[in-house]
Amino acid sequence: MTKSPRRTRQVPATPEAVAAAAESLRQGGLVAMPTETVYGLAADATSDEAVAAIYGAKGRPVFNPLIAHVLGVEAAREHGRFDADAERLARAFWPGPLTLVLPVAATCRVSLLARAGLDTLALRAPDHPVARALIEATGRPLAAPSANRSGHVSPTTAAHVFADLDGRIDWILDAGPSRHGLESTIVACLTAGPTLLRPGAVPEEAIAAALGRPLAQEPKTRDAPNAPGQLASHYAPRARLRLDAVAVSADEAALDFGGALAGGPDRIRLDLSPSGDLAEAAAHLFAYLRALDESGAAAIAAAPVPRRGLGAAINDRLRRAAAPRGE
Ligand code: TXA
Ligand code: MG
Repeated sequence: MTKSPRRTRQVPATPEAVAAAAESLRQGGLVAMPTETVYGLAADATSDEAVAAIYGAKGRPVFNPLIAHVLGVEAAREHGRFDADAERLARAFWPGPLTLVLPVAATCRVSLLARAGLDTLALRAPDHPVARALIEATGRPLAAPSANRSGHVSPTTAAHVFADLDGRIDWILDAGPSRHGLESTIVACLTAGPTLLRPGAVPEEAIAAALGRPLAQEPKTRDAPNAPGQLASHYAPRARLRLDAVAVSADEAALDFGGALAGGPDRIRLDLSPSGDLAEAAAHLFAYLRALDESGAAAIAAAPVPRRGLGAAINDRLRRAAAPRGE
């Protein structure tokens, strides 16, 4: 597919800008929208052409399905079939950073391309006033992956989006840094019962508490991940990432947590949270990975981050960023 260059307009997310972006979406345009997790690259989920343009702009493999964003459970019911567990989770966490993978409803209007041909669909009701206004003004579900080039870390600022997608999309609605800084938690509610497909901004413990029982874990098959985008090296920076470091060598950049990293006249050091706060660390993670990568260091030494609560998702993203390329 040849892609003609687009004029990318990066603007503050005023009501006028949201209205113009919604009009662009109705015409098949591509709009980077702020959400409470990360910036998403939105298109009309009911249009094959618009959804195809998302894959083209990101360089994303078409076997990797997209999340359809809606206002809430009423709108979601048109597209996915809710069992009792899915109802409970939507009631507890929507609007918010939880994505539900459900069997497709007979009335589903989401493009087969957005679903990558699957008979399941990922649905999320975001909790960000701009994303919600955009969905409402467009009057359609919005397919939106994270607004980065495929293989890069997710964008948590409009500037990150611009760096990755200038000339490939129509609008970037700037509403400042993303609140959570980590993508949504993905839970499948299919025949096997609620199953964690991707750790994210809602801690697994909170989901288990809402369900009254633990989540099943996705089987660890590297060849056929249940969330197809979860390939090991999906979030890779250019620099090599060294996990659970206790010291930094002279040629490394440092990704610290709670001031734990000793040593070195390190080239550059960023602390995810000097006070050891996991929510603060999550909000800084992708921006700091980008900044350390841009410092030109060949390697980044990352301090250990506790695995409880949001730490599970932070460690998941760090592991992926450290994985060898080409997997
Ligand atoms: O926080 C988020 O979830 C952000 C914002 C923009 O909403 N979106 C996001 O989208 O992270 P994306 O495309 O980067 O990641 C969505 C993940 C992918 O790994 C994809 O494979 C998985 O969801 N997914 C989508 N539909 C699926 C389905 N039917 N079954 C299993 N996994 C699915
Ligand atoms: Mg992504």
